Amino acid sequence: MPGTSDPRRVLIASNRGPISFVRGEEGHVVAKRGQGGLVTALTGAVQGTGGLWIASAMSEEDRSKAGKRFDVDVGATRYSVRYLAIDPPTYAGFYDGISNRVLWFVHHLLWDLPRAPIFRGLARDWDRYRSVNQAFTRALAEEGGTSDSTRYLVQDYHLTLVPAMLRRARPNARISHFSHIPFAGPDYFAILPEWARQEMLAGLLGADVLGFQAPAWAANFLMCCRTLSGAKVDLRRGLVRWQDRDVRVRVYPISIDPEGLRVEAAAPEVARARKEMLRIAGGARLLVRVDRAELSKNILRGLLAFEALLESQPARRREVTFVAHLSPSRQRIREYRDYTNECVGAAERINRRFGRAGWTPIRLTMKDDYARALAAYQLYDVLLVNPVMDGMNLVAKEGPVLNERDGVLILSETAGAFTELGAHAVPVNPFDVEGTARAIGVALDMDPVERQRRLRGLRTAVVRNPIERWVEAQLEDLEVGGR
Ligand code: G6P
Repeated sequence: MPGTSDPRRVLIASNRGPISFVRGEEGHVVAKRGQGGLVTALTGAVQGTGGLWIASAMSEEDRSKAGKRFDVDVGATRYSVRYLAIDPPTYAGFYDGISNRVLWFVHHLLWDLPRAPIFRGLARDWDRYRSVNQAFTRALAEEGGTSDSTRYLVQDYHLTLVPAMLRRARPNARISHFSHIPFAGPDYFAILPEWARQEMLAGLLGADVLGFQAPAWAANFLMCCRTLSGAKVDLRRGLVRWQDRDVRVRVYPISIDPEGLRVEAAAPEVARARKEMLRIAGGARLLVRVDRAELSKNILRGLLAFEALLESQPARRREVTFVAHLSPSRQRIREYRDYTNECVGAAERINRRFGRAGWTPIRLTMKDDYARALAAYQLYDVLLVNPVMDGMNLVAKEGPVLNERDGVLILSETAGAFTELGAHAVPVNPFDVEGTARAIGVALDMDPVERQRRLRGLRTAVVRNPIERWVEAQLEDLEVGGR
């Protein structure tokens, strides 16, 4: 771990920063911690290195702080942050147009191919995507200067062009890029026009090290590189020879901070949320899901699977309540809104069909409420994590750490987390609704000794991969070899 004596300076670039400022209901500005595991995982890397986090300004309040760096405390860590204020139409093309409507869809295989995608205005949005990537590159190059000791850690699908741009600006820089999401195989990736594929692959190959969450995504990336003229791919060694450099393709599964999570779960709001959830359950057992309301999470098929279970096994009615704890995500985009509405509609229909006095089969909520998510983790009997495709999925790691009921994890074979946790979970094919219904039944009926054994196995697997390891391993690999 880089300490104060470490000459390295770490610069992080991601679209969403570690913190965002929003105006609260009473009109004053409140700081909101960024979602996801990234903030926690990078804590050690920026602490004490004189490092800096560069991110997009997401709110008006962020925009007012843009351009200059400032220090901010997130939990126990002090970050230096610099926001980039991008003009709104450019940002919309970059974030909604390309990142969320195209790249998210291609890498999670989300298109309903007979109908979508229909690319219109793709080149225009791509120009905007490119100019935001340029803005990040300029800020990184400026902050990094010409010093050899700067390490650039570029994050995710929003910033795939940055490595090559930065390489041009700083030829000797040490750059890594990490994909938090899956990477499509060459057939699905070929849905994108060739120019976009080429620019994206060449963009990523500007890095020294390319990180992925799971072996399958790294393998897909390497297979895609085989289609890129001028690239020589060594699948076995995970190397791509590109423009006289070796680019290393590696797997760094991200983890969580179990201790930090336990501290958060001890807060009084969590106790309150827990009481409320127990009241709502009214003695029924709890099937739980915790997700952003978003297409890759496969929420709809999860609801249909629960319906299939209630239909095929009437004895389950009243025995179990499904708590679907969803937080709104990217609702500016029609596809995400439509999907969310479909999920809400399905839950209402199932509730009308099976609900009885004193028992509502599905309790679906749609709001940002972290305390309630933690309470749901503590109380689940069965945790349903059935994404269509997922880079890692941290719910599958967080839930077992906090659970107090020897709860069983149902996990998609297509989640990156399956590599580490699959042996202790009940596996599902996310497309198989009847199979998922059966898996819920199996999980509910599992004998107590087996439940305990599996929960122990899950916790051990999580603890075995300490959170610091993720960034340490990337920084170590940046020191190796080079050009
Ligand atoms: C995924 C991505 C992150 C992203 C997060 C939330 O985990 O890998 O880069 O920040 O989703 O999505 P949002 O669009 O709200 O930032």
